[in-house]
Amino acid sequence: MTKEQYRKLTRNIRKPFNRYFAFRRLRKFHERRRSLEEIVQWAMNFGSSGYYRVRTSQMPSEILSLTRAVAELKPEVILEIGTARGGTLLIWSQLATKQVITCDLEDLSEKESFLQSFPPPGSACRVTLLSGDSHGQAFKDRVARQLDGKKADFLFIDGDHTEKGVTADYAMYREFVRPGGIVAFHDIVESQPFATNQVYNLWKRLRLEQQTEEFIQDPGQSGFGIGMVRVPLK
Ligand SMILES: C[S@@+](CC[C@H](N)C(=O)[O-])C[C@H]1O[C@@H](n2cnc3c(N)ncnc32)[C@H](O)[C@@H]1O
Repeated sequence: MTKEQYRKLTRNIRKPFNRYFAFRRLRKFHERRRSLEEIVQWAMNFGSSGYYRVRTSQMPSEILSLTRAVAELKPEVILEIGTARGGTLLIWSQLATKQVITCDLEDLSEKESFLQSFPPPGSACRVTLLSGDSHGQAFKDRVARQLDGKKADFLFIDGDHTEKGVTADYAMYREFVRPGGIVAFHDIVESQPFATNQVYNLWKRLRLEQQTEEFIQDPGQSGFGIGMVRVPLK
């Protein structure tokens, strides 16, 4: 048995327990209405294990500033590229009133019912999970079908961090954002821990051309940083 097969086997054995504890944690989170600060703290420290681990790799002040800006839009529909462990999805699910569409290369089906339970009790927000490569035309068509003519208030691009990848995501998906809405990018600072994190190369062009805002916790930091583009009101 390979290491990966062993990992999968033990994950599957622990799955019912992890599921039980993850839903219990989610019920605790949903016990009362949460402030934006609390929502961000929960997204960063939710915990749980295996398929049900919720986590986000964000700087607290950066993601809180973005969360505040998105909340001000009173969003109905949010589109996210890059679900990973569902940390930012947990945040967006508390803000959107109608739908969050979240996309990832990874197959999210094992935890689908859990991620779809993220919106607060009584919310009409639906969470739609799409697995596949965001750069394919067929994948874009799936997103368009889900939107069904609606525009997103907010698009969060946190998927492929190469210059080519992030540029493709912006070029392909910005048309789905309404005038006055927001497109945000993660990992915009120039100094990055991985050579494949190249969002800065797109970001430095965008900030010359568009109405932008940056949230950077520490100007000397390596990695992170959130950049926000306001889609012009026509
Ligand atoms: C940094 S993580 C996202 C983190 C998440 N937004 C959060 O903070 O909670 C990036 C994710 O993007 C996904 N990804 C990378 N390239 C992608 C692509 N071309 N299409 C869809 N998802 C992609 C990866 O599988 C990974 O799970």
